[in-house]
Amino acid sequence: MIEFIQAYQDKPGIREVLHCLKQAQVRSYFVGGAVRDWLLGERTWDLDIVVMDWPPAFVECIRRQMSLHLSEASPFLTYRVVLPSGGHIDLARARKERYPHPGALPEVKPTDQLHEDLGRRDFTINAMAIEIYPDAGRFHDPFGGRTDLSAGWIRVLHQGSFQDDPTRAFRAIRYAVRFGFHYAPETEQEWDHARAVLPEISFERIKNEFKRMTLESQAVGMVQEIHRLQLLESYHPEFRAQPEALKILPHIPRTDESDWVLLFAPFCLHTPKIFELSLTREERKFFQDLHALLHAQDLGATFEEIHRRWKSTDTRALRFAALYKRHPLLQEYAEKREQTRLSITGQYLRDLGIEGQKVGEILDRLFVEKLKGRLTSLQEELRYLHDILLKSSQ
Ligand code: CTP
Repeated sequence: MIEFIQAYQDKPGIREVLHCLKQAQVRSYFVGGAVRDWLLGERTWDLDIVVMDWPPAFVECIRRQMSLHLSEASPFLTYRVVLPSGGHIDLARARKERYPHPGALPEVKPTDQLHEDLGRRDFTINAMAIEIYPDAGRFHDPFGGRTDLSAGWIRVLHQGSFQDDPTRAFRAIRYAVRFGFHYAPETEQEWDHARAVLPEISFERIKNEFKRMTLESQAVGMVQEIHRLQLLESYHPEFRAQPEALKILPHIPRTDESDWVLLFAPFCLHTPKIFELSLTREERKFFQDLHALLHAQDLGATFEEIHRRWKSTDTRALRFAALYKRHPLLQEYAEKREQTRLSITGQYLRDLGIEGQKVGEILDRLFVEKLKGRLTSLQEELRYLHDILLKSSQ
């Protein structure tokens, strides 16, 4: 499979790493997602390379390439090279893993057997390798990954795989939905293991899986699978998705991984359990805003009322609640608010001698007028401001 090496070898960053591997005579392999995607006819710029050794000559050679950023070795024996054109190469020492107890992070030991490194992985389709040095292009597939890839199977490599690492359940779903694959019988037997061990892992690890799903084009299908397989319910019985809420997700745009909260929202609409978990300030605010909106008796009947009540509310929470509670005006407000920017600022009003609460009140009136599409230029904003000031002085 020399074509794989040829397709990558001239790219800045990759070229240097491959050169150093050969020069220092490091037995090395491309592994994981890049090999899988190549066989599917796709190219990715997040590459994983496994090496059998870290000779000082290799590390030196890489460090000499000034354009490459090499991050520190972690306890998992990995280095990251950031590619100048985006993407990265993760270099990892071949290793075998032992899980001290279900759900724990693995204890890692180096190995010089490629099949041991491939054998510790999640699925057969991710356990193939293409040799870089010495036998460039040689294909290694000890677990039948290529056959499973052609037949569309997500197959674990060993029994108890999800017990070792229950986050693999989310990974299985991600691949199955992304590629339209099926779970092999061995994988089907793992769901119970995942459900049993999930409550023992940190929320951070679940959050990471949601973040990875957020930017997938079929993220909604993945969330539906999580619901069908009752994975979050096993984490906490109150994390039970509302089927109505799942239907909302395709209608709310996601722009980056911080939008994972949208995918999680259908599972925690009516439980305060979410606030007991580790959340950033922004994430916490999203869920607080969403709960406030869902519990509000009256969301507002005019743009003025809605703006007064919800102006500092997270826009994603507004969109979610508007669709869930079927409130078209709130939905229109959430969408228009995103595009509305006032030219007049608070400082401008203070410079005119306006003080205290009055500043906020005037800005709110200007904002709602602009949101309604009635102020389309700075002149129109200034004229409207003039009218407000005139009326208030009369
Ligand atoms: N891996 C694993 N178990 C995990 C995480 C990762 O076995 N819980 C292995 C898999 O072999 C995977 C490789 O590490 O192919 C790299 O992991 P990652 O970058 O997360 O996945 P990719 O295969 O690159 O897939 P994706 O397309 O989702 O990025």
